[in-house]
Amino acid sequence: MSTRTTTGAKRRGMSRTRKLWVVDVTLTLVFLLVMNVPLTGIAIHEWLGIAIGVGLIVHLVQHGDWLATFTQRFRSATSFRNRLNYVMTGLLFIAFVSIILSGLVISEAAIPWIGIATSSSVFWLWLHLVSVDFVLLLTALHIALNWKWIVKSVDRYITKPIRARSSRRTPTLVYPSAKETS
Ligand code: HEM
Repeated sequence: MSTRTTTGAKRRGMSRTRKLWVVDVTLTLVFLLVMNVPLTGIAIHEWLGIAIGVGLIVHLVQHGDWLATFTQRFRSATSFRNRLNYVMTGLLFIAFVSIILSGLVISEAAIPWIGIATSSSVFWLWLHLVSVDFVLLLTALHIALNWKWIVKSVDRYITKPIRARSSRRTPTLVYPSAKETS
């Protein structure tokens, strides 16, 4: 009975982690595409940017428990590194919101298409681009601070399963004994 409960919990845990990975990897790939406006053109850039906004909301809902305990954890965080990590995650979120809001304000395709007038103000364009720079900088710091966790997760969910699968496929050579060959 207890084994079944543990296995069930484990299974639920795995699928939650997988879901988080799928959303994170998809967001990263779409982000890389959105960064390349000459490749996508402005209309695709804007719609994908809006999709990232939706993805961020999903991401926030998935990490709701983390956000709910943010202040509490920040106060009780013992190390400087942990506090820095929390502040950086908060700043990263603000920078993302800033990119998307300023993008909506200067939109040339998506927002005018739904009949809402947008602005060509230099300030909003500046905010859009500065926020992008901040996101890149904060992401680099975020990755550096969480590097050990990233390496561990890649090892646990990617490298080890691949190794386990390939070792299962490798046939084992069984040499005939001296009795069999004579
Ligand atoms: C995470 C999301 C986004 C990222 C990373 C991003 C990034 C960028 C970058 C790097 C540029 C400069 C392109 C260049 O000069 O070659 C740009 C321009 C632009 N973005 Fe975004 N963007 C995002 C979301 C959005 C959204 C949601 C909209 C509107 C709905 C938008 C509208 C625009 C517009 C209109 C420009 C052209 C500004 C101009 O040069 O006139 N962006 N964006």
